[in-house]
Amino acid sequence: MSSCVRAVVRGVGARLPERIVTNDELSERVDTSDRWIRERTGIHQRHIAAEGELTSDLAVAAARRALERAGRRPEDVDLLLVATSTPDNTFPATATAVQRKLGIGPAMAFDMQAVCAGYVYALTMAEALLCCGRARRALVIGAETFSRILDWEDRATCVLFGDGAGALLLEAEEGTGTMLDRGILAATLSADGRHYEHLYVDGGPSSSGTVGHLRMNGREVFRHAVAVLVSSAHRACADLGITPAEIDWFVPHQANRRIIEAVAKRLEIPAERVVATVDRHANTSAASIPLALEHAWREGRLRPGDLVLASAIGGGFAWGSLLLRW
Ligand code: UT7
Repeated sequence: MSSCVRAVVRGVGARLPERIVTNDELSERVDTSDRWIRERTGIHQRHIAAEGELTSDLAVAAARRALERAGRRPEDVDLLLVATSTPDNTFPATATAVQRKLGIGPAMAFDMQAVCAGYVYALTMAEALLCCGRARRALVIGAETFSRILDWEDRATCVLFGDGAGALLLEAEEGTGTMLDRGILAATLSADGRHYEHLYVDGGPSSSGTVGHLRMNGREVFRHAVAVLVSSAHRACADLGITPAEIDWFVPHQANRRIIEAVAKRLEIPAERVVATVDRHANTSAASIPLALEHAWREGRLRPGDLVLASAIGGGFAWGSLLLRW
């Protein structure tokens, strides 16, 4: 049994904007209905950021909660990673806005852009940096204000997304090298740019000089999402020598209840071990997994020692799966 360094969760936090927008409220703006949205997506409502409430504001609130719950101060953090596709500004990194608002001095801080797979990518990067000794304590935040890049006249997309942020505080800790260790135990990341046009924003600094709006070929994303989430979950589990049925909690990216159910079924994970928050949060992109983790933790379902499988796919397509012992 060889020792090795693990990236262990010490605290979790979340922040959702105050304002809740129901499906009925949206049906007054576009040609849709509560029934269509519930049946096709499982979404009942979403939180929408207030005017002037920035991605970094949500991120800071989530980060503060994670720090409090870990019993740590902002200045204890030496790596700040924000997974987001809706940064405050094109640059600098939203991570540096968060750093400034938290009053953290010089530390490594950068953003991770892998859209809905952003949080799995960010956790994997944080783990790599903690495990090779480049950092000791990492705040890994998923934070989004997708409401700002939605086309509010496109019923096919505007009903699907919400705003929010979630954060984990991870610390480097000596483990035994077995799968009984706490912390991140396996991860697999991938992307395939041939699908770039199925889910994208039709603007950007280099292409149009504008921010742009989200565009999606929903059917095509759905089709790939199920297949890719299943194969990447199997791959992460195989790295650890287990099957998906052996995990305690499946915490998938929250885009659509039908995708979550189809994936869980194929992985033979029973519904009671699936964390689903898509009904109340809608799709919060990179924030959806940490928001779901915080929700399960706050409800007392997620306990120290539980084995969590987190999987996500989004624009790019980019996707990944990760195994974490809480
Ligand atoms: O986070 C990144 C990953 N993103 C995803 O995973 C999203 C994946 N895709 C999906 O979740 C689903 O494809 C959607 C929820 C986006 C759409 O569900 P669908 O069952 O694939 O519906 P559809 O796109 O095939 O549309 C069915 C019908 C269409 O009408 P026709 O052509 O059959 O007459 C749409 O125009 O539903 C219509 N429609 C709507 N009707 C009422 C589309 N959006 C709406 C709406 N309200 N909001």
